[in-house]
Amino acid sequence: MTDFPAGDITRVGVVGSGQMGAGIAEVCARAGLDVKVAEITGEALEIGRTRLFNSLAKAAERGKISEEERDVTQARLSFTTDLGEFADRDLVIEAVVENEQVKTEIFQVLDQVMTRADAILASNTSSIPLVKLAVATSRPDHVVGIHFFNPAPVQKLVELIPALTTSEGTLSRAQIFAEKVLGKHAIRAQDRSGFVVNALLVPYLLSAIRMFESGIASRDDIDNGMEMGCAHPMGPLKLSDLIGLDTIVSVANSMYAEYKEPLYAAPPLLQRMVDAGRLGRKSGSGFYTYG
Ligand SMILES: NC(=O)c1ccc[n+]([C@@H]2O[C@H](COP(=O)([O-])OP(=O)(O)OC[C@H]3O[C@@H](n4cnc5c(N)ncnc54)[C@H](O)[C@@H]3O)[C@@H](O)[C@H]2O)c1
Repeated sequence: MTDFPAGDITRVGVVGSGQMGAGIAEVCARAGLDVKVAEITGEALEIGRTRLFNSLAKAAERGKISEEERDVTQARLSFTTDLGEFADRDLVIEAVVENEQVKTEIFQVLDQVMTRADAILASNTSSIPLVKLAVATSRPDHVVGIHFFNPAPVQKLVELIPALTTSEGTLSRAQIFAEKVLGKHAIRAQDRSGFVVNALLVPYLLSAIRMFESGIASRDDIDNGMEMGCAHPMGPLKLSDLIGLDTIVSVANSMYAEYKEPLYAAPPLLQRMVDAGRLGRKSGSGFYTYG
C-alpha cells in the first residue's frame, strides 16, 4: 500500500508524456500521488516511460532521491493509451502538443469519462485561451490552467490561470495542490495568451532568432552575450532548442493571434526549421546538434 499525502487530490492523470508530461508525472509521483499517464500511441507511451524512468534513475544517481524512493516512485506510476482509464482521477493535467483542436478534443473526452463531480481538468498550455478548453466541457467551472516550466522536476514555478468560468474553489484547490502537495511556488495570471512568463520570454527568444537570421551575430556570440553579459544560465538559442522549436512557433502564433503585435510573429527561419523537422533538443538538432 502506498501512503498518499493529505488533501483531496490523490489520483492524478497526465495526458501526454513528452518533455512536459513526463516531467509533470514525475513531480506528481515524487509527491506521493497515484499517477496515470496517457499517450496517443504505444510507441509514444514507451518513449515517455523511458524518459521518465531515466530521469528518476538520474535523480537517484545524483543523490537527489534514494534508490528506495526511486523504486517507490516508479511503483506509483501507471501507463495507458486509453483515456477511459481516467474515470477515477481527482485531477487530470493535459500536456499534449500546443494545438487547440487536439487539446479541445481531449477535454471533451475527459469530460465524458471523469466520474468524480468535483474533479479538476487542468491544462499545461503555454498560450491557448483556457476558456476555450473550459467551454468545450460540461463543467467549465472546474477547468484551470496549471502551467509548469521545463524541466518540471527542477523548475520551482507554476503559473495558475483561471478561465473566466473557473470557480474560486477550483482555483484555490489548484493552488493548494501546486504549493502544498507539489511544493512549487505559484503565481497567478489572467487568461491572456502567454500569461506572465511566456509573454515576456517569447518576444525575447523571437528577437534572438531574428538577430541570428539577419546575420547580426553568430549563434555562439548571441548565446554567450546573454550568458556572460547578463548571467542567464542559458542563451536564447540554446533555450529555444530546450523548449522545442515547434512549441515556440505554436506559442508565437497564439500570441500573435491574440495581440496582433509584430513582436510575437514567428520569424521565417524558425518556421522553416520546424518544417525541416529540426525541433531542437527533442529531435536531435535545432540551432545546435545533440548526441
Ligand atoms: N516545452 C516547454 O518548455 C514547455 C513549457 C511549459 C509548457 N509547455 C506546454 O506543454 C505542452 C506539451 O509540450 P511538450 O514540450 O511536452 O511537447 P512534446 O512535443 O515534447 O510532447 C507532446 C506529447 O503529446 C503527445 N500527444 C499528442 N497528441 C496526443 C493525444 N491526442 N493524446 C495523448 N498524447 C498526445 C505526443 O505524442 C507527445 O509525446 C504544450 O501545451 C506546451 O505549450 C511546454
